[in-house]
Amino acid sequence: MCGIVGYIGKRQACEVLIKGLKRLEYRGYDSAGVAFSGDSFRIYKCKGKVSDLEEQLKDKNINGCMGMGHTRWATHGEPTNNNAHPHQSMNGKFVIIHNGIIENYAKLKSGLEKEGYKFASETDTEVLANLIEYVYLHNQNNGDSLSCVDAVRVALNMVEGAYGLVIMSEDNPEKLIAARKGSPLVIGIGRGEYFIASDATPIIEYTNSVIYLNDDDIAVIGLDGLNLTNLKKVKQIPNIKKIDLKLDEIEKNGFEHYMLKEIYEQPRAIRDTYRGRLNFESKYLKLGGLHNVFSELKEAKRIMIIACGTSWHAGLVGEYLFEEFTRIPTEVEYASEFRYRNPVINKGDLVIAISQSGETADTLAAIQLAKKAGAIVIGICNVVGSSIPRETIAGVYTHAGPEIGVASTKAFTAQVTVLTMMAMAIGQANQGLTEKEFEDLIGELYAIPDKIEKILNTSNHIKDIAEKIKDSTNSLYLGRGYLFPVALEGALKLKEISYIHAEGYPAAEMKHGPIALIDEKMPVIVLATKDHSYDKIVSNIQEVKARKGCIIAIVTEGDTTIKEMADYVIEVPQSDFALAPLLTVVPLQLLSYYIAVYRGCNVDQPRNLAKSVTVE
Ligand code: G6P
Repeated sequence: MCGIVGYIGKRQACEVLIKGLKRLEYRGYDSAGVAFSGDSFRIYKCKGKVSDLEEQLKDKNINGCMGMGHTRWATHGEPTNNNAHPHQSMNGKFVIIHNGIIENYAKLKSGLEKEGYKFASETDTEVLANLIEYVYLHNQNNGDSLSCVDAVRVALNMVEGAYGLVIMSEDNPEKLIAARKGSPLVIGIGRGEYFIASDATPIIEYTNSVIYLNDDDIAVIGLDGLNLTNLKKVKQIPNIKKIDLKLDEIEKNGFEHYMLKEIYEQPRAIRDTYRGRLNFESKYLKLGGLHNVFSELKEAKRIMIIACGTSWHAGLVGEYLFEEFTRIPTEVEYASEFRYRNPVINKGDLVIAISQSGETADTLAAIQLAKKAGAIVIGICNVVGSSIPRETIAGVYTHAGPEIGVASTKAFTAQVTVLTMMAMAIGQANQGLTEKEFEDLIGELYAIPDKIEKILNTSNHIKDIAEKIKDSTNSLYLGRGYLFPVALEGALKLKEISYIHAEGYPAAEMKHGPIALIDEKMPVIVLATKDHSYDKIVSNIQEVKARKGCIIAIVTEGDTTIKEMADYVIEVPQSDFALAPLLTVVPLQLLSYYIAVYRGCNVDQPRNLAKSVTVE
């Protein structure tokens, strides 16, 4: 959360910063700001989106080849002009932008107030700006002059919490200082120019050589080069990596919204995720990223899956898959709960952390806890080089490509694809699956992208249904077995982008409460594809119908029984029931998307939300 961009080089910084901030807006869009150095700092910032800032900049002096910019997801203090970043220290010596949370900010603030510091905002970031300045000036007054970067180092050693920071200083105006702990920062290395950003998307247009900062790193960057040290002032060797990300992967490519583009990318994303790992002809499956730990994985006594949001829903599908294919007991938990409740973790337990961004703070902290307890911790992540793959001993990347729409879509199906392959590989190795079952599943998984394409071709029909139910204020999503997590995910999608209250429920639980809500105004979306509980779900549909609920059923192609009962049906191709989540979630994504568009909502940037949740 919060996007950071910095630039130093030969170009006009403003252009690089604004373009970069737009690419990072998925991380928050409560306010935006930029700062340029020169004879004095020029700071422009405002509540609202990057486009609002751009308007404001029209008549301003934005000349300069060095600067930094920020797009905010508010933590401390409301989204106001004053709380927008960059923040300047009281005596004007330092200007900073920050992603993360300074946890001991209140204590630091009262200490600074006693020293005469006044604050213009309610943010923890301004406290940090003033702390750095206080350290710098205090040492000067005492006759020990401290360089700007050493003042930053001393201050950061006093801070508890997480930060990705870019800092400019009045006394060293030709350098940018970047520092990281807990929140991501990437430095792009061009020819005679440097870029700093929260992720690589603002950088790839200019260079594919990057350095991912590690926790405790501090980089001082000028036209003469980059100097990397850590909080203890020990020199660090920059590890330059080449990134393989193309510009068109982060453009809308003719789609009205990123979310729609990403929904349509799912066949490609799934193919890319199994490409080179699964072979249909030779019935071969190998997950190279798990090679080193595979013997431990198949011996695991217990699997724990930890994740947040949509990734947690993928984890729930994983629980069904692992227990069915491997017979290893599996639990799924929200990372935020897991990390604070003293969970029982035994040495040799397998912990799987799932995260699209690879940066979610709660998931990262849960990983650290599990590692300490001796678990084997592996990751399923989408963003290459992000923190979670670096914290885990092994893992599998989803190759979904950058996901920019805040509501996650293709990341979910790619995660479920990886979980399916993992469960199949372990199941084959520990005989949870017979060879015939394993081979049939290879064929089934291989066919999923074509089947999703078929569903996408029915989008006009789904759009028509969306128009019929767009004015509802509540809705219920029901599913059983593998389709219960899909019900949760469908409900989450609707809530997130259309602001309609929605609940996902196991269909059989409906009679224990939610049935009381059903009347003719309540759309009930039922996941009712053909599997072993089909007859039960048909009975659940009858129960809703008897109470005049409006039924939208997701059914297997050719189903005639439910067609007669439901108000609307959406067909999906037949598949193995363990893979049905990969198909049935797609119409739910489209339904939410079209409902949100009909309601005039900002689909890609829903209110109050952001991606890459680097705060707890
Ligand atoms: C945020 C995003 C969700 C995402 C969740 C977990 O809430 O809006 O789309 O599912 O974070 O993120 P992760 O990157 O760990 O999958």
